[in-house]
Amino acid sequence: MIMGKAKLGVLVSGRGSNLQSIIDNIEKGKLNAEIAVVISDVEDAYALERTGKHNIKTCFVNPKGFKGRDGFFDEIGKVLKQNSVEYVILAGFMRIIPLSLISIYKNKMLNIHPALLPSFPGLGVQKKALEYGVKYSGCTVHFVDEGCDTGPIILQAVVPVLEDDTEETLSQRILKEEHRIYPEAIDLVINSRVKIVGRRVIKK
Ligand code: GAR
Repeated sequence: MIMGKAKLGVLVSGRGSNLQSIIDNIEKGKLNAEIAVVISDVEDAYALERTGKHNIKTCFVNPKGFKGRDGFFDEIGKVLKQNSVEYVILAGFMRIIPLSLISIYKNKMLNIHPALLPSFPGLGVQKKALEYGVKYSGCTVHFVDEGCDTGPIILQAVVPVLEDDTEETLSQRILKEEHRIYPEAIDLVINSRVKIVGRRVIKK
């Protein structure tokens, strides 16, 4: 059976290097998907310059343009729906998603996090890992649930922490692995090659 391309909506706030790796994998034919829309909550995010080079539809949703958090996320939900998005990909989107939106995309919303969850959830985690003194860190792709970085884990990659690492060098080494495993995890999910059993994500 020939499957149609999965329609992705990618949410970004900044540099967009994970977005770029998704674009590259699609263009190389490694990911049977299309990016229906990229939504940013930051008007001048570098991620939006990347989409310009690839003719991808973008939308800036201004968080200041709404009375509260609910209005902002309702608008994001509207844009996703208008663009027939099937899977929501958080790629450096620096906000906690409310349950109202998560429940629309249950088990179809993914996030990448630059640490080995459940260690170091939240922000600034490469620095926290370094300061804690762990010998290994890495990255995690997980389904999004109502907690902060708590959803079922799809893939992880381990990165050693070197003695002369700085936050910058460790972040770079982790980022390289992010770019590898995020498209791989998206591929697993859009092709229904995983199932969730309890908290465990099992390959079918
Ligand atoms: C990435 O390291 C991603 O894992 C992290 O932000 C960076 C975005 O980089 N996400 C989080 O910390 C989410 N809690 P990018 O914009 O170049 O993809």
